[in-house]
Amino acid sequence: MHVYIEDIGRHEGAAVTIKGWLHNRRSSGKIHFLILRDGTGFIQAVMSKAAVGEEMFRAADHLGQETSVVVTGTARADTRAPGGYEIDVTALEVIGQSHDYPITPKEHGVDYLLDRRHLWLRSERQQAILRIRHEVIDAVRDFFNGRGFILTDAPIFTPAACEGTTTLFPVEYFEDQKAYLTQSGQLYVEATAMALGRVYSFGPTFRAEKSKTRRHLTEFWMVEPEMAYASLDDVMELAEDLVVSVVARVLDRRRRELATIERDTSKLESVQKPFPRITYDEAVKRLQDQGLPIHWGGDFGGPDETALSEQYDRPVMVSRYPAALKAFYMKPDPERPELALGVDVLAPEGYGEIIGGGERLADLDLLLARIEEHDLPQESFEWYLDLRRYGTVPHGGFGMGIERLVAWICKLEHVRETIPFPRMLYRLYP
Ligand code: 4AD
Ligand code: MG
Repeated sequence: MHVYIEDIGRHEGAAVTIKGWLHNRRSSGKIHFLILRDGTGFIQAVMSKAAVGEEMFRAADHLGQETSVVVTGTARADTRAPGGYEIDVTALEVIGQSHDYPITPKEHGVDYLLDRRHLWLRSERQQAILRIRHEVIDAVRDFFNGRGFILTDAPIFTPAACEGTTTLFPVEYFEDQKAYLTQSGQLYVEATAMALGRVYSFGPTFRAEKSKTRRHLTEFWMVEPEMAYASLDDVMELAEDLVVSVVARVLDRRRRELATIERDTSKLESVQKPFPRITYDEAVKRLQDQGLPIHWGGDFGGPDETALSEQYDRPVMVSRYPAALKAFYMKPDPERPELALGVDVLAPEGYGEIIGGGERLADLDLLLARIEEHDLPQESFEWYLDLRRYGTVPHGGFGMGIERLVAWICKLEHVRETIPFPRMLYRLYP
């Protein structure tokens, strides 16, 4: 009977068939030790000459790494085995040969591996990271669905900028029309929030950022909730609940994967409510006290975010940035109009911003002035202005980048390992 390696414990003593690939092997004269993988786990299959006969034994002598094989045998509990079980092989069938597999157990450089990302994904560590990514996405969806948010996905071809004109990817549309790949679904979820109340979008977003940092991709996945009748405080509370809920879910269901990548889970256990809340003013003061060269009005760079987030054992929420640093749609603080009612959530352990959002500018005249100040083409935003013309309400939301979140949860060096096929400044292949 075909069983998946992760379910093998339910078949102890039974004859089972594993359909997978040869991950690794060693031999000692009369016994082959074959490490098999099938996507759900790894298991050692023990093949003795006595059990399979001379011919089949010899056929297994030269199997290369990643040969696809169907192996039948008896599942046996073994306390020394990593997954608790081994298989005593009675038959082995080769499905597809694999010679000179380019990724061996030895160390390879990251560029070499990225050029072979389509194969690198088969490694134990990359599989574990992608399983955690899957859990994160599933947890995010469950969180919003469980709270009555409606999924309303935003378009990917858009007529105008959302997050600033310098990071747009232009696309040729029909008959001399120019389109851009979306930087954020936000403007569209503001519209769907006015229809449905509480909504979210979840899709790919694009930034033509020529940044070569460990936090930047040119294509990344963002989840963007938006709520009608919501204030900055409501937005912050939602962000906090989301992050706590997702981390708890990964701890609950992905212990094995976290162990595979050697993640210190005690650091994740401390991700509990309440998250510290500080203002931009306070953040600047803290950074200056640490000797960093930031002045009021300056944007935080990677090193500033790292320094801030390292002071806490859980994410920190920084709010009320200078309006000049933020996008045109942010509501100004009524008490200090030079500030925007925006919030960034910075992850601990030096990971920096994982969430950005805030309360939106709901007033038509102020919004028109902002669009002009930012030199944006008003005609492309008429539909967005309509949201202020017909029954405007206070509202807000945020965007959370899945890759940044996964990089932190997995404590990875770089976001490039959090997505199956990363897109970066110098990386469009495979
Ligand atoms: O802070 P950002 O630019 O905010 C927005 O786009 C808002 N319109 C979202 C909203 O309010 N609905 O991006 C939000 C998040 C960041 O906090 C980060 O996690 C991620 O998106 N992000 C990136 N992730 C990977 N590579 C990049 N180049 C990213 N740029 C932003
Ligand atoms: Mg941001």
